[in-house]
This record gives sequence, structure tokens and C-alpha cells, in this order.
Amino acid sequence: MHQLFSSKWGTALVLSAAAFMLSRCAAESSPGPQLAPLQPNRSSELAASMRHLDAELVAIRTRITDGDGDWTGAALTEYDFNALAPTDSSMFVEGYTAFALAFHKRVADFNVAPGPDTYAGVVSGCTSCHQKACPGPLERIAKRELP
Ligand code: HEC
Repeated sequence: MHQLFSSKWGTALVLSAAAFMLSRCAAESSPGPQLAPLQPNRSSELAASMRHLDAELVAIRTRITDGDGDWTGAALTEYDFNALAPTDSSMFVEGYTAFALAFHKRVADFNVAPGPDTYAGVVSGCTSCHQKACPGPLERIAKRELP
């Protein structure tokens, strides 16, 4: 009986440790070439949408900093973060729904009027939620700010 109990807890611990590592909410390693995830299909819907948005920010920022500064036609995908499954439910911190709604509004504002102010609004929306829900990518998000 006792043994059954402890092995159950052992399994739970191992599973939650694995979920934590998969989530990449922990601090990222130093800059440099990034290895592709070993099991990309294990990524949650939420994590995949985050990576996609991050890539869109990089593309827009590069276009602005390296180009002629023309924002015409720049747009971000409008995800509903409240409808996408995360790696584990511990990510639904208090206020998460409100952060997700506020962020959605900032993306919509950007898409209506792409420019430096609405872009900054989007990046600060990323930062606000991450400070509470998932601090690991904060360093990466800071690099998306305009110079
Ligand atoms: C409403 C809260 C919220 C907002 C807004 C938000 N994120 Fe996230 N983000 C999360 C959570 C929670 C995770 C962990 C998802 C998971 O592992 O399932 C995450 C994960 C990530 C990851 C890691 C993905 C991976 O490979 O595991 C990156 C990078 C990221 N977000 C970047 C961004 C960027 C850039 C923005 C703004 C465009 C943004 N996030 C906006 C909550 C948020």
C-alpha cells in the first residue's frame, strides 16, 4: 500500500517536471544558434501560436529597421489565446483571461493602424502577460522593441 502511494507521487513529479521543461517558461539559455525542438509535435497550441507571433514581430521589426520605415500592410495574426491549450494548466495564472483579452485588442489596434505606437503596444502586451504567466521568454521579447 505504502509503495503504491509513493510510486504514484513519483510519477506525478516526473510528469510535472517534464511539462515544465517542455513549456520553456524557464529562462532561456544565452543567445546563439537555437536547436530545433526535439519533438516539435509535442508543442502546445499556445506555444506554437507564440512562436508564430514572435516570428511575425521579427519580420515587421526587420522591415522597419532595415527598410524605409514604411508600415503599410504590416499585420499580425489575431489569435484567441483564451481558446488555445497551454502545455499545462498552471500557466493560467490569476488575470490570464484579462491579459489575453487586452493583448487581443492591442493586436487588433495594430492591424487597423500599423505604426510605432501600436507596435509598442503589442510588445508591451507580450511583456505584461509574460511577467506573470511565463517569465522565461521576457529577454527575447525585450529584443522585439523598436530601437
Ligand atoms: C495572455 C498571456 C500571454 C501573452 C499576451 C503572450 N504570451 Fe507568450 N506565452 C504565454 C504562455 C502561458 C506561454 C507558455 C505556453 C506553453 O508552453 O504552452 C507562452 C510562451 C511563449 C514563448 C515560448 C514558446 C515555446 O517555444 O514554448 C514565446 C517565445 C512567447 N510566448 C512569446 C510571446 C510574444 C512575442 C508575445 C507577444 C506577441 C507573447 N508571447 C504574448 C503567455 C502569453
